[in-house]
Amino acid sequence: MIKRTRRLRVNNLVRDIVRENTLSENDLIFPLFVVEGENIKEEISSLDGNYHWSIDRLEEIINEVVESGVKGIILFGIPNHKDCVGSEAYSDEGIVQKAIRKIKEITDELLIITDICMCQYTDHGHCGILENDYVDNDKTLEKLKEIAVSHARAGAHMVAPSDMMDGRVLAIREALDEEGFKNVSIMSYSAKYASAFYGPFREAAHSTPSFGDRKTYQMDPGNRKEAFVEVENDLLEGADIIMVKPALSYLDIIRDVRERIDVPVAAYSVSGEFAMVKAAAKAGLVDEKKIAMEMLLSMKRAGADIIITYYALDAAKWIKEK
Ligand code: PBG
Repeated sequence: MIKRTRRLRVNNLVRDIVRENTLSENDLIFPLFVVEGENIKEEISSLDGNYHWSIDRLEEIINEVVESGVKGIILFGIPNHKDCVGSEAYSDEGIVQKAIRKIKEITDELLIITDICMCQYTDHGHCGILENDYVDNDKTLEKLKEIAVSHARAGAHMVAPSDMMDGRVLAIREALDEEGFKNVSIMSYSAKYASAFYGPFREAAHSTPSFGDRKTYQMDPGNRKEAFVEVENDLLEGADIIMVKPALSYLDIIRDVRERIDVPVAAYSVSGEFAMVKAAAKAGLVDEKKIAMEMLLSMKRAGADIIITYYALDAAKWIKEK
């Protein structure tokens, strides 16, 4: 036989030299949840091994992230006070703004990315300003600008709008530039689907909408080509990094985007993906480490350069163990 593909599988050494895709801790971003209050490190019931942290306890987790070799975190805040205009989202004394300043005191060895959205901050739980129970796009843009600028003012390196309003990347870019934050980059949640995989996050972030769903702003899971319309708009508006979310059920979208654009592509492996593996592992059905690493690798293989995952710290450890 002339063609024997098994020749390049005979042992570890040869498999190692021909492997096309690998996972590195440099690829990973860790989501971090901050809450008001003191001395809080409380496990999030829907996200095993992930915690709500109060600002005074952040040092512990921030040092852990830095030591793991993971280069960035994405910050989510849970405010004490919610109202119809999400005012704590853009207050300089908001939970995320305070957390950013604290993290900058702890280290300058970590990329601080912030999620830009209103759903944790509005009393109705939708991602923007309501007008007759419909999320008003253009009124919401004004708030998103304020949120992004306040995060930048606190010291964020990168902002990540996740609201899915039209025109938000341009609005945020212009607002940042006007305020002198030309080097604060934008990672846009460009192709964000209206997905059931966000369930555990909404419990963690207290952001379940009080009525209806997010289908008038997030994408329909049946759509593939539309993802590129979103991506193209965001690129024209100045997005530096394009994100696809969720990841596992949307590997085809990651691949499409990868083939059509040349900026970095991020994949958000969301809460439901993580929680399913945790539950299956707890039930003794799967090997957690192997399943998680295979899932993350599949996202790399699909074309993601960056993976946001609740497994970031574990994966960094597992990469070193090999
Ligand atoms: C905010 C936001 C959500 C997630 C990230 N940013 C929730 C949502 O859109 O309802 C989900 C993250 C996850 O499930 O891990 N809009």
